[in-house]
Amino acid sequence: MESFNFFFPTRIVFGNGKLANLGEETARLGRQALLVTYPSQSLKSAVDQAVELLRHNGVETVLFTDIEANPTHIQVNSGGEAARASGCDVVIGLGGGSAIDAAKAIAVVASEAADIWKVYEGQPLTRPSLPLVAVPTTAGTGTEATFFSVISHRELKRKEGFARPQFYPTVSIVDPILTLSLPPYMTAATGLDALSHAIEAYYCRASTPVVEALAARAIQLVSENLRRAVFNGKDIVARYNMMLANTLAGMAITQSDSCLAHVVGEAVGAVYNTGHGVSVAVSLPATMEYNCFAAMDQMANIARWMGEDSFGLTTREAAMLAPGAVRTLIEDVGLPLGLAALGVTENKEVMALMLRPGMDASSPRPAAQADFELLMQACLSSAMSYWELGGK
Ligand SMILES: [Fe+2]
Repeated sequence: MESFNFFFPTRIVFGNGKLANLGEETARLGRQALLVTYPSQSLKSAVDQAVELLRHNGVETVLFTDIEANPTHIQVNSGGEAARASGCDVVIGLGGGSAIDAAKAIAVVASEAADIWKVYEGQPLTRPSLPLVAVPTTAGTGTEATFFSVISHRELKRKEGFARPQFYPTVSIVDPILTLSLPPYMTAATGLDALSHAIEAYYCRASTPVVEALAARAIQLVSENLRRAVFNGKDIVARYNMMLANTLAGMAITQSDSCLAHVVGEAVGAVYNTGHGVSVAVSLPATMEYNCFAAMDQMANIARWMGEDSFGLTTREAAMLAPGAVRTLIEDVGLPLGLAALGVTENKEVMALMLRPGMDASSPRPAAQADFELLMQACLSSAMSYWELGGK
């Protein structure tokens, strides 16, 4: 019976082949587009198609490919300069989460002529940002449906996710066909990132009834389709359902928050430069065990949505199945069960990042230093779970 708000300003154009609508959708927003993407061979065909679709609809394209897997504030600032220098009036992000996150930030600095890091540090925005079109080519980050952008600052050794209303894309063209050529490992890592968004958005303290509806469907879709997508990349039904799960989970997390798997995964990623999806996914089972009895009803529902048989079980018994269901899925799709397999060791820098004030704010169960230390041990280990290590 709780009160809640719901606001979602992005127009989602979803479906197989919907990339074809890119030109028409962009032409409503501008005449000169900065297309932000990676200089990657695997994206070449999608980029060529995009440029042609835009040209056909009277939109000129300026390509900006000077970004990398973890885009930096310097790259964002030079993207903004490129947009201003060539008179762009709309920005398109095409690629995985990094391309779209960079495009979100570039759309802000293009009109504001500011340093994005200063904006993050509190410099007020005085001008509306350029309209933004997001075209995801992976099914995981959900960034096409969120107001988050993750940007790194190399000198400060920081990698931060920032939330700003301006980061909601104006339009997102979500075409599952663009994920058909995604290799199995990337499919697994990004798909489990989507699962972690749905699970954490649902059980964390910021959840709402709308988040529950979105997360329930996303969790079911990942549980039923991720194995299929990993083991047969051309399975269009599985790809469609994973893309849908990705967008629903993005909508869920942008209304709610992430939780401790993202706290651990992002701290590890900032220090070891490990991929976001895999770092968060591997941290998910232990952090769910940590929160199992603080969010018991939610964990019992997660177990059911993941297909666990809870007939005749108590809520407590059903809840305890949820972390194991995630662990089985991680194992089935070929990701490691412990962060140690990614080269991560116990590390003071990682611990310091996790212990910053407020990092446990959305966790149903608060976490102090001793809790994070045991959690980290469990996340590192592929053999022992948090409970097996004696964690309660
Ligand atoms: Fe994530």
